[in-house]
Amino acid sequence: MSLIATDLASASLEAFNEPGEVKRGLPPEAYTGEAFWAEEKARLFPNNWVLVGFAHEMANAGDAMPVNVGDSPVLLVRNRDNQINAFHNVCRHRCLKLVDEPMNVGRMLKCPYHAWAYGLDGELRTTPYFGGDDPKSVPEGFDAKEHGLTPVRCEVWYDWIFVNISGDAQPFEDFIAPVKNRLQGMDFDQAKLVGVIDLGVVDTNWKFLMENFIEPYHVQFVHASTTDQPLVDHYIVDDGHCQGSAVDLDDSDEGAMAAAILWR
Ligand code: FES
Repeated sequence: MSLIATDLASASLEAFNEPGEVKRGLPPEAYTGEAFWAEEKARLFPNNWVLVGFAHEMANAGDAMPVNVGDSPVLLVRNRDNQINAFHNVCRHRCLKLVDEPMNVGRMLKCPYHAWAYGLDGELRTTPYFGGDDPKSVPEGFDAKEHGLTPVRCEVWYDWIFVNISGDAQPFEDFIAPVKNRLQGMDFDQAKLVGVIDLGVVDTNWKFLMENFIEPYHVQFVHASTTDQPLVDHYIVDDGHCQGSAVDLDDSDEGAMAAAILWR
């Protein structure tokens, strides 16, 4: 892994990137430094594919879900053809945030400020009284087609929704290939959601959580009462950006399979 913040490089970052068997942890500024966090928001999240939601949470046409990628507000919307699209969550008139919380917007997204309304595919439909007294009038030269919502690159892979703000990330098929390879043989069409463990908002740097799920070292101590999987059964997945830890389960063990599916 090479760090994004080359201009923030310090002696400890260089030590992190040194080849060798024994790796050092990231330097403290990677977890607590405002400048490092600003770099991540400016470059890491916008320039890559980021998992932002789950398709089952917006199952119906008109369901809209606001999310943030770094500092960018993004709006996910399911259209009438059952596709999920993403847009910048910003009205094209005076830049008001369109949707603040998950909701069903019906057939149109209506801005609460001056009531401009957008279709579920982002096209600008109505701009009431924009040109004066007549509700349908528009200023001369104004073309609604040029003022639809700004799309954000979006892909849905089974239940997982990914977006790429910059539009410059690698092709999605390349991005997801290591995950596909890793999960080869899994029939996701048969997968059923049986429950969710929602940790809510955790007040920490995002990397602490990621690292927790990558290392299984803690499992035998912290989860001793909830799993009897010995440490030796756990292994670390390190395949480019596909990072994590895993345990192979016997698919005849329904209880274990259900527990695995519970985690998200
Ligand atoms: S800011 Fe949205 S309609 Fe004016």
